[in-house]
Amino acid sequence: MENYLEFLSEILITKDQLSTRVEELGKQISDDYKASTDLVLICILRGGVLFLTDLMRAITVPHAIEFMAVESYGSGSRESSGQVRISHDLNTDIHDRDVILVEDIIDSGHTLASVLELLCARKPKSLEVCTLLDKFERREIEVPVKYVGFTISNKFVFGYGLDLDDLYRNLPFVGVVDEEKYKNLK
Ligand code: IMP
Ligand code: MG
Repeated sequence: MENYLEFLSEILITKDQLSTRVEELGKQISDDYKASTDLVLICILRGGVLFLTDLMRAITVPHAIEFMAVESYGSGSRESSGQVRISHDLNTDIHDRDVILVEDIIDSGHTLASVLELLCARKPKSLEVCTLLDKFERREIEVPVKYVGFTISNKFVFGYGLDLDDLYRNLPFVGVVDEEKYKNLK
């Protein structure tokens, strides 16, 4: 189904740009963690899944992967309240391990701040964040982010893992929604 063309305002990041940048991030992480013996990538479901699977193939040091799902309390689909509840927890202990949290996008930063707090309490050896996209100007709370794929402006984006009302995560590029056109189609 190609109906997304009806509300795609522009392709912000192409498939080629994504793969080039993901390769670079993979190299950087491989270099930074070459001495690590116990690296684990934690992906926040569901938006980070496509990024994780490409990123891990670009990382050359041995590493495990884990998944976590969180839900924000009392928020609409496009605003985050800050309070999160774990709806799917890790299957492993991260105590004393090198952890990289893999995220699709950081917007206000509230989701990430809460997740970092939860993970920190489990006493990993190290904890860093790798996000594909950073809507830096929307930040409401300071969060330490070591690896950023692309800094983007305040536009609602979809594709490459990011959803638009739960759909279109499969698109190979990151696109900007024309909110007016999208609203009128619904
Ligand atoms: P935060 O807590 O405000 O930083 O929200 C982060 C979460 O909001 C992300 O993990 C996404 O699920 C969602 N989000 C924020 N901006 C976008 C967007 O432009 N497209 C799709 N999802 C988004
Ligand atoms: Mg998300």
